[in-house]
Amino acid sequence: MNISMIGTGYVGLVSGVCFAEFGFQVSCVDLNAGLIARLSAGEATIFEPGLDELMTRNIRDGRLSFTTDLAASVAGADVIFIAVGTPSRRGDGEADLQYIEAAADAVAAAMKPGAVIVIKSTVVVGTNARIRDRIRAARPGVEFSMVSNPEFLREGSAIEDFMRPDRVVVGVEDTRGREAMRRVYRPLYLRETPMVMTTLENAEIIKYAANAFLAMKVTFINQVADLCEKAGGNVQEVAHAIGMDKRIGAKFLHAGPGFGGSCFPKDTRAFAATGRRFDAPQTLIEEVVAVNETRKQAMAARIIEAARQSDAASVAVLGVAFKPNTDDIREAPAIDIIAAIQKAGLTVRAHDPEAMVTARAALPGVVWCNSAYEAAEGAGVTALLTEWNAYRALDLKKIAGLMTGNVLIDLRNVYKAEDIEGTGLDYRSVGNSSAFPKAGEHH
Ligand code: UDX
Repeated sequence: MNISMIGTGYVGLVSGVCFAEFGFQVSCVDLNAGLIARLSAGEATIFEPGLDELMTRNIRDGRLSFTTDLAASVAGADVIFIAVGTPSRRGDGEADLQYIEAAADAVAAAMKPGAVIVIKSTVVVGTNARIRDRIRAARPGVEFSMVSNPEFLREGSAIEDFMRPDRVVVGVEDTRGREAMRRVYRPLYLRETPMVMTTLENAEIIKYAANAFLAMKVTFINQVADLCEKAGGNVQEVAHAIGMDKRIGAKFLHAGPGFGGSCFPKDTRAFAATGRRFDAPQTLIEEVVAVNETRKQAMAARIIEAARQSDAASVAVLGVAFKPNTDDIREAPAIDIIAAIQKAGLTVRAHDPEAMVTARAALPGVVWCNSAYEAAEGAGVTALLTEWNAYRALDLKKIAGLMTGNVLIDLRNVYKAEDIEGTGLDYRSVGNSSAFPKAGEHH
């Protein structure tokens, strides 16, 4: 079985490498020649734990290759995955489908009869059917099958998520498509992974509804955190106890600076826009989008106020990636928070274990530091924005000694009160009344 994977971004690269690991012949295609050259040399172009090793092994064993020649890759493929980007369109928040359409046109021109075309990119409901009709019109009379196969990979654990998913969702229209997907996911079948075979439309909606629900869960606990701070509660205790109810579940109940990344922000906006377009308003998700935006500004205001009280001219920011174990800063809360701090006239000294290279261009004016300690030098406030393991066991006494002020704002609730004792730090976590000044009262 030959697989062609179009698009070597996050989803395409991880999926292509994992299918090769399953034993299939995989050729990954991208227009970007520089990217293809690096990938061919075995270089993982994204930071993802475990990816390097799988790439090296499968390239060496001849199952995995990279090319800019889409036509050749597609012509030899039984199954063609389209995994190109679907960014947010400016203005209305709808997903921009131009890359999908361009890929579909190129696939239509090159595919062999009987090919199975699978859209892996996140696409709004109706897209698979439209793309099917577009390909049919381009190659009248040529048989092919259309399949929707959304992914649920989390950055930082994408390989594990691919190899051990909770379920695989497949939207199909015919037996050929169904059988092809059974074959490509056979190794997961053997592990008894549930395989949801459904319609194209359901598969599309499942992907957006899943991400929107998770984003809503995070946003919900963030608002509960606000209440806890003001009313004398502790959001971690609340989240822990509500999460014990199996109907709610313990995951995605960590309060923080708001969700970011390449999926939640864009997918919630697109889901809301789809709802408006179909006159089925997703008002809950509209609100999730708005609350998440407000939250980043509220977190920035918190940091700025503490810095003003400390009289220091700089703030240390620990972590700019939208979450740990990735160098991705797309829509990271750190971007808006840092911009707001700078706008308030303060200098930002920042550190991140992996994301500083990607962040440099996106965050001008930041003083990039080689360690958390270097960032803390002379800062009035240290703000922890990403829960990297490297920040879980900092020498807090040393941090306090390096700062001119003494406020540690822990937006990920990494530390506990007992970790702070004796350090001289004024510790403020999220959603914990005892670690936060009440209205009108200052530490
Ligand atoms: C997400 C989905 O989980 C995945 O299934 C989908 O395919 C792509 O989008 P990812 O963007 O990699 O994956 O990150 P995820 O771990 O879901 O976190 C998203 C954001 O929510 C991060 O900014 C994270 O910090 C935040 N988050 C998550 C919280 O603030 N609290 C939580 O409890 C969980």
